[in-house]
Amino acid sequence: MVELKTATELAVMREAGRVVAQALAAVREAAGIGVSLAELDAVAAQVMADAGAKPSFLGYHPDWAPVPYPGVICASVNDAVVHGIPGRYRLRDGDLLSIDCGASIDGWHGDAAVSFVVGAADPADLALIAATEQALAAGIAAARPGAKMGDISAAIAAIGRASGYGVTEDHGGHGIGRAMHEDPPVPNDGRPGRGLRLRPGLVLALEPMFTRGGCDDYRHADDGWIVHTTDGTRASHSEHTVAITEAGPVVLTLP
Ligand code: MF3
Ligand code: CO
Repeated sequence: MVELKTATELAVMREAGRVVAQALAAVREAAGIGVSLAELDAVAAQVMADAGAKPSFLGYHPDWAPVPYPGVICASVNDAVVHGIPGRYRLRDGDLLSIDCGASIDGWHGDAAVSFVVGAADPADLALIAATEQALAAGIAAARPGAKMGDISAAIAAIGRASGYGVTEDHGGHGIGRAMHEDPPVPNDGRPGRGLRLRPGLVLALEPMFTRGGCDDYRHADDGWIVHTTDGTRASHSEHTVAITEAGPVVLTLP
């Protein structure tokens, strides 16, 4: 069921989104060569604790996962697309890191992700990241009342395909509110003019993820969570939580 949010509810989601943005900024600031992913997880946890927000990911247990999610953030390095578990791995020069973060306030969630390179960047990685950011912006611009879900999906995929990037199948955005994952799904590929009509009060997490090698398929690591590219090439992921309002799209996950 698709739940539309009131202005009051959107205001609380905006607060949750602000904490998510702050946590992402703090993690990015802390992410240097030699820093472990577990240390970055602790940074995000501290920002949420200070803000009185609850981590959305920690303990989250969808039915396809073998164990509940053990982190506050997802930290996906290089060929990891999403859902990288923050463990002992220490960042190396040139790593492409995607950080995904969710937090709730009074039970209302925000969800966002950024990708960036640690240390000296391969220009091809920067181009890949720029593409997921452009796709996210294009998806947001398409999230207008009266438009269709397919308009968002098509806008996202078009940017990735134009550069020959892979668009990871079966992974995309989602409705968000009282639950982190709600209806409707937001596919990262689709046809303009098709699908659900977008209405004011609908809140969506848009999350393009592209792969450098052009592969659309993926495999789960042994831990059941981490999603890797099958060709070993690097992936980038960008995400915002966006409210559709009469006045157009409003990004909730900004500082
Ligand atoms: N933004 C990611 C998603 O919507 C967050 C995953 S959280 C996890 O899939 F808890 F499932 F890891
Ligand atoms: Co999400």
